[in-house]
Amino acid sequence: MTSLNERKKAIKDAGFNTFLLKAEDVYIDLLTDSGTNAMSDRQWSAFMTGDEAYAGSKSYYLMENAIQKYYGYKYVIPTHQGRGAENILSRILIKPGDIIPGNMYFTTTRLHQELSGGTFAEIIIDEAHDPLSLHPFKGNVDLNKLDEIVKKHGAKKIPYVSIATNVNMAGGQPISIANLKALREYCDIHQIRIIHDMTRVAENAYFIQQREEGYKKVPIKDIVKEICSYTDGATMSAKKDALVNIGGFMATNEWDVYEEARNLVVVYEGLHTYGGLAGRDMEAIAVGIKESLDDNHQSARIGQVEYLGQQMMNYNIPIVRPIGGHGIFVDAKAFLPHLTQDQFPAQSLAAEVYIDSGVRTMERGIVSAGRKPDGSNYYPNLELVRFTIPRRVYTQAHMDVIAESVANVYDRRHKIKGLKMVYEPKYLRFFQAKFEKL
Ligand code: F0G
Repeated sequence: MTSLNERKKAIKDAGFNTFLLKAEDVYIDLLTDSGTNAMSDRQWSAFMTGDEAYAGSKSYYLMENAIQKYYGYKYVIPTHQGRGAENILSRILIKPGDIIPGNMYFTTTRLHQELSGGTFAEIIIDEAHDPLSLHPFKGNVDLNKLDEIVKKHGAKKIPYVSIATNVNMAGGQPISIANLKALREYCDIHQIRIIHDMTRVAENAYFIQQREEGYKKVPIKDIVKEICSYTDGATMSAKKDALVNIGGFMATNEWDVYEEARNLVVVYEGLHTYGGLAGRDMEAIAVGIKESLDDNHQSARIGQVEYLGQQMMNYNIPIVRPIGGHGIFVDAKAFLPHLTQDQFPAQSLAAEVYIDSGVRTMERGIVSAGRKPDGSNYYPNLELVRFTIPRRVYTQAHMDVIAESVANVYDRRHKIKGLKMVYEPKYLRFFQAKFEKL
């Protein structure tokens, strides 16, 4: 616990960027659900049996086996986390001048596509950009948008379609099986791969079970495998769904791609049987994958997120609806309508929530969106503050404290001023940018 004055000083010293706060100065940490999960007793006991052999560790084969069994991909390349897999995959598949259509961008994924000379093209349905639309599958692809890109550039310029399940930047919103099937059919006709960012695939499967016709009685485990079956390969940040503190992998069904990846991983991550991970990390991932597919785990996890969303709605806080999988996304444009997007409303609001209660959240708006390769700013329609819920960490009482704090800030919203950026890093600026109050 910290005092109001301590928090005012801490956030100013951090340049009004919650990423630059010391964790010790944070009371409830909703910065991210990445690596902040609590591992289970089964994961910790597996951790103790990690095989730290440099090559051919038994822990690697356990992890490989879990990925093949539960996700169905043929070949596996371990990486230290998701972006390690994105780096390798982008280097293999993307040539300068290529276009990579995808449902919605993710910061690191798009940057690796751009660093390999590609251009990301968004093809998500329009409803995803409307915080109030109650569309049950706001992660869906608009096939007309994809078709326009294919007609304009030709399928040869498109190495793959990049599909995220439970789209992070849209507010943790799912894609439906029906949409994935239609996309698969389209891509088969045009001979285009589908690469799956499966970071939150089990959460997506939970929503399919709840919302899609014919899936009420299907276990999450089977839905996940079906989702993966419509795609040709994947990148994964195991720090989310798979309930670990570090780890990731790339997976593919294509031997050629695997062979190249196995070669490149040695350059950037480590040998192809550890990829930057300790044996104990791979043990914990193998167990975490299995635990993430448990129906009760997902209903408790997403139930907690829904509880927080309900509390916020009771206080009339504008949030993205339907409530997403990994957090509550507060609509900063609606919360602070007196600020223009250039005054960083979401960045400002995240700082104000921290000052109020020590709850740490993060910006998901213009700062996260960054700049285009030509140097101009992206102006995303969604200007959000993400209250991300780590898995198996907090209690319902914490959720109440969070909602009450946002309500306090909402009461004094008219007095909140905007920010100006005084330091901007070249890549992924949201992590380290600094601001001052206007
Ligand atoms: N893809 C998605 C959808 C993600 O959410 C993340 C990470 C990554 C890829 C990259 O994985 O961090 O293991 O290198 N998201 C975290 C977040 C950082 O807070 O949303 P990574």
